[in-house]
Amino acid sequence: MVITYLFQKFHIKMVPFKKLNFKHQLSFDNSFIKELKIRYGDEKNNLFYGIEYWLLNNNYYFDQVKKKLPIIDKNFTLYFMNITSKTILPHTDSGQKTVINFYFNTNNCITQFYSINPFAVQSSVKWQQRNDGQVFTSGITPSYEFTAQLGDVYILDVSTPHSVVCDTCYPPRSALCFGTNLYTFTELCEIINEY
Ligand SMILES: [Fe+2]
Repeated sequence: MVITYLFQKFHIKMVPFKKLNFKHQLSFDNSFIKELKIRYGDEKNNLFYGIEYWLLNNNYYFDQVKKKLPIIDKNFTLYFMNITSKTILPHTDSGQKTVINFYFNTNNCITQFYSINPFAVQSSVKWQQRNDGQVFTSGITPSYEFTAQLGDVYILDVSTPHSVVCDTCYPPRSALCFGTNLYTFTELCEIINEY
């Protein structure tokens, strides 16, 4: 708490992600897919290139992850994330402040975070169909990054601009994403640290 207070008081930016100290043993079952929640990207020759979020049709993964992380409850929404593009532009998420990602295939993609330049005139556009998320086209500077691997579990501050950069997009990069708009990244890290 003291460290968090000092960071906030002196406007020091904390690292906006945290790798948890265990590997998940989950595998993904396509039969759990219920429906497409939302996708952002382009279609070419009937193929989609971008990022998709799928809703699942049962509580299997909730039940599994709660054994390790009991904080994951009704205040989280679960999506199956599928990325079929080499680049996801810098953005902040809509409708969620913080996510816990359980990675499957990662393609060694880099998740790049950015700091917002304090005096820059922001030139950004709203995500289509989104409420509070933004895509950034300028006024940001690369800060921290990580490269997830199969089985890794990360907490991400998705209210901080972030992008994904891959060398390849096949097979698609995929993860289970438990998103919440209730807890900030800092709050969630503090809760999970106590386990
Ligand atoms: Fe995102």
